[in-house]
Amino acid sequence: MLATYTQVTPTRLLDALRVATNQLHVDLEKRLPFFSPVLDHAYFLRLLQAYHGFYRPLEAALLTSGLVPPALAQAERIKTPALLTDLQALGMTEPDIDSLVQCPQLPVIDSPGACLGVMYVLEGATLGGQVLRREIHKRLGLDEHSGASFLNVYGSATGPRWKAFLEYLDCVSGDDATTEAAAQAAQSTFACFEHWLDAQEVLL
Ligand code: HEM
Repeated sequence: MLATYTQVTPTRLLDALRVATNQLHVDLEKRLPFFSPVLDHAYFLRLLQAYHGFYRPLEAALLTSGLVPPALAQAERIKTPALLTDLQALGMTEPDIDSLVQCPQLPVIDSPGACLGVMYVLEGATLGGQVLRREIHKRLGLDEHSGASFLNVYGSATGPRWKAFLEYLDCVSGDDATTEAAAQAAQSTFACFEHWLDAQEVLL
């Protein structure tokens, strides 16, 4: 079913993003503990805390950049509130969450292309979330009410929102500078995220 999300004719920009990040995705996926027997509730909480430390400042940076195209309805795509809900469901108070460490080294969002590159990574990650959601329910018994809403952050809108994102990419004039900026920002997003997760000691 997930495969149907990507059945849109690849654009030059989408092709460039995929080529630039495919290996980075494979490498990070191997190191994430979602399918590992060592993942228990305590480890999952640490993992979500680390995700929060990256998504919260990065989504704030997207907002302040003023570069998210209105057509991509940024308000609908904010994922930090789901992480806050999950951390509270797992027992954290709001002040505890606010005092969690946040990643200081984020991808630079200084052009429309860079903004799309960062968004490509965060939007694409919602697709894998569908696989992870099922696994975490099976393994830890968690669902959207008990600490795993982030993994199904768009619910039934996952497919349509991804499709809308790809359609937007399709409309962007894929000049070389935009394509280059998007590809670099997408690579940087993966690299910064992996580096951060590593520093938080949540990777395998
Ligand atoms: C163990 C963890 C993960 C698994 C199992 C996973 C799995 C997947 C799967 C199955 C897809 C393809 C969905 C489809 O074609 O319909 C996908 C796409 C994608 N994932 Fe992941 N993912 C994981 C983690 C991540 C993370 C942490 C990120 C980035 C923060 C990420 C970014 C992406 C992107 C950008 C795409 C879109 C690729 C494209 O079609 O252009 N994934 N993932």
